[in-house]
Amino acid sequence: MFYAHIVVLYGLLSICSTNESKIKNAQRPVRLFTQEELQRYDGTEDGQPIYMAIKGVVFDVTTGKEFYRKGAPYNALVGKDSTRAVAKMSLEPADLTHDTTGLTESQLQSLEEIFKGTYKAKYPIVGYTSRRVLNEDGSPNIDFKPEDQPNFTIKDEL
Ligand code: HEM
Repeated sequence: MFYAHIVVLYGLLSICSTNESKIKNAQRPVRLFTQEELQRYDGTEDGQPIYMAIKGVVFDVTTGKEFYRKGAPYNALVGKDSTRAVAKMSLEPADLTHDTTGLTESQLQSLEEIFKGTYKAKYPIVGYTSRRVLNEDGSPNIDFKPEDQPNFTIKDEL
């Protein structure tokens, strides 16, 4: 009987703390990167973190420096939003952009898989590009949802 009470109490406490952490997440400030700021983290300087964005989400990819540091095979992808390059598996300079215009269904699907399966699984999110957080006129995009919010769907952002 006593044991059962402990179990119930533990259950209640975990529900409360889950709600509390959701509230904390919702209030966590979001770091916004302009194109120039993101460019500073392009792996050129030793000891500086390396960042890259996909779909406007900025990841710290420093732990993957064997892929991304200066001289490494995927260095071209960092310090910028490389959504198109990742979708097309291309390192062509013209594809090193956030622009998804004209991508095929299968390229978009591949983008989602790499976004979720590699980047979100492997690397911490450190912020968002200003393009994603703000509208073109600089006003806040009221539809912006940080990745760690519940009910976030990737299709919303494209
Ligand atoms: C002959 C061509 C290529 C080969 C043999 C190759 C090989 C590989 C291998 C073996 C990995 C996995 C490494 C690991 O997880 O330990 C990888 C990861 C990756 N590749 Fe390629 N790749 C090629 C071309 C490309 C191109 C053109 C792109 C352009 C975007 C690309 C983007 C990536 C990305 C983004 C990752 C994930 C890196 C990470 O985990 O941070 N690859 N590749």
